[in-house]
Amino acid sequence: MSVESTTPASTGASHAAEPRDWDPAAPAKRRSERRLLAASRPLAWFLLHAIVRNRRDVVHIPRLGYVITGAVACREAAVDSEHFRKDGPKSAGALLTQVMGKTALLNMEGPDHVALRRRLQGLFTPKFVNELADRALAPISAEVVADLQAGKTLDVSLLARRVTGTMMCHMVGLRLEGEAREKRAREMYKLGQRLVGMVPTNMKELDEREVAAAKAVFEQLVDGIDEVHADGDENTIPGRLRELGFDLEETRGVVGMLLIAGTETTSTALVRITSLLYDTSQWKRLQRHRELLDNAIEEGLRCATPVPVSTRTSAKDFTFHGTKIRKDELVLIAWARAIRDDRVIERGTEFDIAREIPRELRLIWFGAGPHFCLGYNLAMRELTTVLTALLDGAPEIEITKRKAARKVLLPTWDELYVRRAGGAATSHAPAGASA
Ligand code: HEM
Repeated sequence: MSVESTTPASTGASHAAEPRDWDPAAPAKRRSERRLLAASRPLAWFLLHAIVRNRRDVVHIPRLGYVITGAVACREAAVDSEHFRKDGPKSAGALLTQVMGKTALLNMEGPDHVALRRRLQGLFTPKFVNELADRALAPISAEVVADLQAGKTLDVSLLARRVTGTMMCHMVGLRLEGEAREKRAREMYKLGQRLVGMVPTNMKELDEREVAAAKAVFEQLVDGIDEVHADGDENTIPGRLRELGFDLEETRGVVGMLLIAGTETTSTALVRITSLLYDTSQWKRLQRHRELLDNAIEEGLRCATPVPVSTRTSAKDFTFHGTKIRKDELVLIAWARAIRDDRVIERGTEFDIAREIPRELRLIWFGAGPHFCLGYNLAMRELTTVLTALLDGAPEIEITKRKAARKVLLPTWDELYVRRAGGAATSHAPAGASA
C-alpha cells in the first residue's frame, strides 16, 4: 500500500498519513464498464467510443449525421439554439411531438421554449424540493439504514427504482398509500423506461403503429393527472402548474416530460455511483471524508454520464469547429466523450472522488444552455439523501451479485446486491428495496 498522494487534479482532501487503499483506475472498474456497455446497446456505444476516438471536435458519420465530441464544442452546441435545434426533423424532439404533443420542453426551441421555461421557473424551488424529498424519501432512507445495519442484503437497483418512482408519485400527487403507491411507483418507472426504449437509435421517424403504441404508454404514464390538475393542490406539480396558469394539455406535456426525464437518469446515477465507489475501493475513503459527498456525486455523474448524448438538428449549412455541417442533419452532442476530453481534464477515465472538476466540464452532465436540466436540484437532493443512507448503514460495503441491464439506452446494473461488509449472511431477499 502506498501513501495517498496529492495529484494535480485533486481537491486537496489528501491526508499524507492515510493509506492509499483506493484506486481510481482499478481493473474492476474497467471490467464493470465493459460488461455494462456490452449488455446495453453495443452498436450505439461502438459508434460513440470506437468511431469517434479521435481528436476532432466534430465527426461526420455518413448516413447518421454529426457527432460533437469536444468538451468546449459540446457546450457551445448546446447553448447555440440558432444553429442546433431540438425541434428539427431528425432530433428526438420530433419523436416527442408525435407522442406527447407540443409542450414537452425537449421538443421546443426559441421564444416559445424560453417563455415556457420562464413560466416553470418557480416549479422546483429549494423549499418545494426539500419538502418533497423529506416527505417521499425519509421513510425509505430510515429503512435502508436499519436493513444494512441488521446485515441484510439490499438491491440498490431496485432501491433506486423505488426512490425515483416514489418521488414521482409524490410529485404528481397521486393519492395512494402503502402497497398501492409502491405498485404505482414501480409501474411509473417501467412505463418511463418503456417510452425511452421506444426511441430508435438512428432517430428515424416513428410509423403510425409505433406512434400509437408509444401514445398508449404515455397515456398510462400520465393517468390520473387530470384529477390532480383539477384539484389544484399546491403540494403537487399538476396543482402548481395550474396555479402558474398551465391548462391541462400543457400540464400533461410538462409532467410527462418530468416523469420520463427524471426517473431512469437518476436511478442510473445512483446505481452507477454505488458500483463506482465499490469497484475503486473508495467507499471507505468517502466514509473518512464525508465532506466529499457532493464532489463524489458530481464525479460519479461525470464518469457515468447518465445522459450520454443529446440530439439536435442542424438548422442551416455552416462551419462548426472546422467541420462543414449541412442543414437538417442529425447532430449528437456526445456528453459521454466530452467528460473525458483530455484537453480539459487529466486522467478523464478515472473516478476520483476528490478530483477538482475543471470549469469547462462543470455540470455538463446536466446539459447546458436553454435546455439545461430542469430537475437538476431535485436529482442532486435524491442522490445525496439515498447515498447518505447507504453510507450510514454500511461503513464498508460488498457487492454480492450484479447483473447488467440488457438492450437499454442508459447502461446500468439491473441488479446490484450490496450488504455491509462483514454483515450477517442473508438470502438475496431485498430488504430496504423490497419494492
Ligand atoms: C442524474 C439525473 C439527471 C441527469 C444526468 C439529467 C440530465 C439532463 C440533460 C443532459 C438534459 C439536457 C438535454 C438536452 O440538452 O437535450 C436534461 C434536460 C431535462 N431534464 Fe434532466 N437529468 C437528470 C434528472 C432529472 C430530473 C430528476 C428531472 C425532473 C424531475 C429532469 C428533468 C429534465 C427536463 C424536464 C429536461 C428538459 C429541459 C428543457 O428542455 O428545457 N431531469 N437533463
